[in-house]
Amino acid sequence: MSLRTRLMLLSCVWILLIVIFFNWFIYYYILKKTTDNEVRQLWSKAQIILRDPEIYAPSHWNSGQLQQYLESDTLIRIISPDGAVRAQVSSSEELSAHPATYRTQYHTYVQNELGLLILFVQVPIVGKNNVQIGLLELGKGLNVVAAFMDLLVAGLTVTTGSVLLFSPLVGFFYTKALVRPIRQLLETMRTIRSKGDFILLSPQFTAKKDELGELGRTFNEMIVHLQENDRRQKHFVADASHELKTPLTVIESYTSLLRRWGGRDPVIQQEALNAIHSETVRLKGLIDALLRLAEVERLAMTELHPVRIAELIRSTAEQMRRAFGRDIIVRIDSEEARCSGDEARLKQLLIILLDNAIKYSRKNVLVECGEEERFVVIRVMDQGMGIPSEELPLLFERFYRVDKARSRGTGGSGLGLAIAKQIVELHQGSIRLDSEEGEGTTATVKLPKSSSTAV
Ligand SMILES: Nc1ncnc2c1ncn2[C@@H]1O[C@H](COP(=O)(O)OP(=O)(O)OP(=O)(O)O)[C@@H](O)[C@H]1O
Ligand SMILES: [Mg+2]
Repeated sequence: MSLRTRLMLLSCVWILLIVIFFNWFIYYYILKKTTDNEVRQLWSKAQIILRDPEIYAPSHWNSGQLQQYLESDTLIRIISPDGAVRAQVSSSEELSAHPATYRTQYHTYVQNELGLLILFVQVPIVGKNNVQIGLLELGKGLNVVAAFMDLLVAGLTVTTGSVLLFSPLVGFFYTKALVRPIRQLLETMRTIRSKGDFILLSPQFTAKKDELGELGRTFNEMIVHLQENDRRQKHFVADASHELKTPLTVIESYTSLLRRWGGRDPVIQQEALNAIHSETVRLKGLIDALLRLAEVERLAMTELHPVRIAELIRSTAEQMRRAFGRDIIVRIDSEEARCSGDEARLKQLLIILLDNAIKYSRKNVLVECGEEERFVVIRVMDQGMGIPSEELPLLFERFYRVDKARSRGTGGSGLGLAIAKQIVELHQGSIRLDSEEGEGTTATVKLPKSSSTAV
């Protein structure tokens, strides 16, 4: 069953139930109000009859005794405890035909007998020693009330009928308006699936202030996000293919050269071997970086440990110092600074930043470590060539290099900072680069402090 049919049925059933309840309520409320006066009159008449001492002598009970109290449309009778009618006067056959029921309490009720409404009041006759000796019953035909109630019933029936007739009609248009945006959303999703295009919902849909508008806005945000991911994915594949193709082209051309001339010319042989070797090294580095990037992207943080940053900086700086033969100055402000993370990945992050600082500067490199509020702050500073300010926001993109020729000379693949950013984000931290062309660059990493003190 479609959502629309279900909503329509549900609203019809509810409307019907509510109408039936209200009709029932109105009927009984009006009946009570219109009979209240009659009830009062019957009660006072019963009180008058009960003042007669003869009533308390069952042997004297007779219809004649009750005759004096009879009015039009009235029934008066005395019922003995065995349920027998011992005395009865009535102004009509219909009233006296009503079966007698003995009761031990005061009781008032309205009986509908073949369209005739009769009001009954029953009062126990209590003799000596508080023992009930009989029941006085008074009945009154409610002709005027009955006619009025008939009119009311007719009116309520017409109302209920109209509601029954119109509620599906209203439900039809109401559910149509309600389901329309959902259908529109479904259509858009189907088109996206079949054509593979990223389609946004119209502003007409998303401008609404209700939950459907909210749904539309979230849907559009999701599509924009997917589109961006798709664009980056395509960009990445194109860049990666290009980066892998360049060294392969060099290798291919040198091997062709060797096949043609290399066998005879030792100079060409040497040149070709050197070029093939350096391009192979570059290719290997590129593939290594790609694998590292994929690994960092794939793995969520599994095990976090408190890492003593000062120690990690010192050991990494020492390692880089030996590898590159360059001086790295380490300045630690807080020896105890710890952040919770993955030590191997944090080391990788430091290597990426130190590698850049060393590669793109000739003077000493400085590493600082301190604490700021809830963060451990690491700064890697160099006094190198710097980065043009308009390029700064792009550096964390994969394969992005400021000056491709200059980087190729230093062997960079443009993946280092992309990996660094992934690592920092995995640790819920932040990374930024500040640079002044010709002055130097500062990379600042902020990582949340570890709450645990154990190492
Ligand atoms: N400290 C720095 N000084 C000057 N330029 C820098 C510095 N750090 C990064 N850059 C510029 O940003 C670019 C991107 O850096 P990234 O580390 O991502 O790649 P890479 O160093 O070229 O290659 P990889 O790190 O993958 O070997 C570099 O090519 C370089 O142009
Ligand atoms: Mg780098």
